[in-house]
Amino acid sequence: MGRKSLYLLMLGVFLACYVYTPLPENIEEPWRLMWLNTHLKTIVHLATFVELLGLNHFIDSMMIGMSFSEVPPTSDENVTVTETTFNDVPVRVYVPKRKSEALRRGMFYIHGGGWCLGSAALQNYDLLSRWTADRLDAVVISTDYRLAPKYHFPTQFEDVYNALRWFLQEKVLAKYGVNPERVGVSGDSAGGNLAAAVTQQLLGDVDVKIKLKVQSLIYPALQPLDLDSPSYRENSDFSILSKSLMARFWSEYFTTDRSLEKAMLSHQHVPVESSHLFKFVNWSSLLPERFIKGHVYSNPTYDSSELSKKYPGFLDVRAAPLLADDDRLRGLPLTYIITCQHDVLRDDGIMYVTRLRNAGVRVTHNHVEDGFHGALLFLNSKISYRMINQYISWLSENL
Ligand SMILES: *[C@@H]1O[C@H](CO)[C@@H](O)[C@H](O)[C@H]1NC(C)=O
Ligand SMILES: *[C@@H]1O[C@H](CO)[C@@H](O)[C@H](O)[C@H]1NC(C)=O
Repeated sequence: MGRKSLYLLMLGVFLACYVYTPLPENIEEPWRLMWLNTHLKTIVHLATFVELLGLNHFIDSMMIGMSFSEVPPTSDENVTVTETTFNDVPVRVYVPKRKSEALRRGMFYIHGGGWCLGSAALQNYDLLSRWTADRLDAVVISTDYRLAPKYHFPTQFEDVYNALRWFLQEKVLAKYGVNPERVGVSGDSAGGNLAAAVTQQLLGDVDVKIKLKVQSLIYPALQPLDLDSPSYRENSDFSILSKSLMARFWSEYFTTDRSLEKAMLSHQHVPVESSHLFKFVNWSSLLPERFIKGHVYSNPTYDSSELSKKYPGFLDVRAAPLLADDDRLRGLPLTYIITCQHDVLRDDGIMYVTRLRNAGVRVTHNHVEDGFHGALLFLNSKISYRMINQYISWLSENL
């Protein structure tokens, strides 16, 4: 064998090891997922490297890596797509072209991306909004919001809330032909976090007369207090969203100071004065036995470095909807929650299912046994079509 072919062989072995990711047995189309994983891993590695060199913030490099999949607001044969602003917040509006006798459903959608990344213009969000508009005969508002690291909490929350409040005015709904009794909110991942947070906030908002009919939360992030639940432990190195990346996203939501992230990873960021909040995220009492399996709950440790005085956001219910007490949960609209087995955020969603049901809220829980974080928007895969079909048929029965 010549030297050239030896190098080629070594390169081939290196690439195969880089691409190969051990995946749980029940994952459908594993090669597709490995390919996506390699793509994301490469972006994360490059972004980490560029940050180590001191050239660019990690998140800014990730943003550049993702911006290639943005698409313009182009109408198709079924749906008219436009861009506008609601209360100064940019939104994309999807209106079905076919004539409608009655007023339509309204769906307000919030994209994910760890409060740092993403936009309504990303191709997969754009397609999901088109399909939702077309198949539900709904007007879909897909909102943007300002992102970290440039903007921190509560900017993301407030942008989304301001856009939603604009939409929920009688005259605005009338302009788009939307039935005020059939409006829902939906979002995935960090967008699911924002969806849960604005839905809670609306309940107590006396200025908004129109109420939501449903909320739908797709593998939402709901609390940054305990990043050591069984799902965080079991999936800490899982390709699409690792525990360390989730800790980075959570801390970037509140500050660019990396000491919060470190404290979150060692579970020493909550001050002892806030110890009462742990009962709202106590997985040993809120998860069904089959998700606890052999995991042993250890009581929290506390922070003495006053991080929460500097960055109070992470204890704020508008950032962490699971920290709401039962009074704040009572009266929430009919809820659909998707959780995925192979996802660090799985237990956040399941704990919210338990807490909402305990507070008397009607919840449909769709737990996807072969699901992983991001699966619903992993377009062109079987699992994505299956989850989108389940999601849209739930909405068509309940919204
Ligand atoms: C428009 O709707 C028709 C009928 O449902 C469908 O066959 C077609 O693929 C849709 N077009 C687009 C661009 O989605
Ligand atoms: C969590 O729940 C377990 C079991 O119900 C209980 O023993 C423990 O004291 C709780 N811990 C906290 C911090 O709420």
